[in-house]
Amino acid sequence: MSGADIRQKWDSRHAEADGPGETARVLAENIHLLPTSGKVLDLACGRGANALPMADAGLEVDAWDRSPVAIQHLNQAAEESGLQINCEIRDVVQQPPVADSYDVILVAHFLDRTLVKPIIDALNPGGLLFYQTFTRKKVSDRGPSDPDMRLADNELLDMFRPLQPRVYREELLLGDPSLGWRDMAMLVAQKT
Ligand SMILES: C[S@@+](CC[C@H](N)C(=O)[O-])C[C@H]1O[C@@H](n2cnc3c(N)ncnc32)[C@H](O)[C@@H]1O
Repeated sequence: MSGADIRQKWDSRHAEADGPGETARVLAENIHLLPTSGKVLDLACGRGANALPMADAGLEVDAWDRSPVAIQHLNQAAEESGLQINCEIRDVVQQPPVADSYDVILVAHFLDRTLVKPIIDALNPGGLLFYQTFTRKKVSDRGPSDPDMRLADNELLDMFRPLQPRVYREELLLGDPSLGWRDMAMLVAQKT
């Protein structure tokens, strides 16, 4: 699929979708780890499933996605909820965040390995990364079919080795794969 086709695919998906989507489990289960104030980036934010709850938690949220349709949905949802979110149509690979600029960075259901260093650099000292995305080991058809767009075994933990892991979950196909949380890995890690 060409770059233009992928963009169009996301624009159509966002146009057809209702609501912001489901809050990522890495945020929903660890929302108590967020600081009480500070600057947050939701990188490749989609329609704001994670930006909205972080703004609701009182944080100053920047939300970037290259899909104008997604950003339009998020602007509208923020306005309807009375929340202030700095939404931006932005290609995060071409324009990654600058160094020392965020207290929290959240990435959900998105993977571009060239962004690992910029993400680490963009965290302020003590800052937290919340990351959740698809693994190659899976029990359903959810997520990208291209293995390059999915994490290898333990890759999420390895990629962010310079940070201190605080929460990590990756179940692969261990035990009874019909139970538990499969198809993804999650990490909350801190820049010390
Ligand atoms: C699976 S969606 C995830 C959206 C959101 N993070 C969530 O979990 O609900 C992936 C998003 O990445 C965005 N995206 C893909 N490549 C991008 C890039 N280079 N820069 C910014 N956004 C990008 C797409 O437009 C799409 O909204």
